Amino acid sequence: MIICICNRLSESAIRQAAGAGASSIDHVFEHCGGSVNCGKCLDFMEEILDSAGGSLASMSGITGVPAE
Ligand code: FES
Repeated sequence: MIICICNRLSESAIRQAAGAGASSIDHVFEHCGGSVNCGKCLDFMEEILDSAGGSLASMSGITGVPAE
């Protein structure tokens, strides 16, 4: 299932990134390529990382995420 439409990242790609050591959304995008665009995927990506043992502790590099 595609989680990040902007970057065409699937749940399995995100889990693979987490398995390779990605512990933040920044790391996932570094591993998979792409960047935060609309931000709609971030909550679900956080859930995937949490379930894989990661955290969002290093989101400091993410900018341009629209507030809801
Ligand atoms: S869906 Fe992931 S940045 Fe837009």
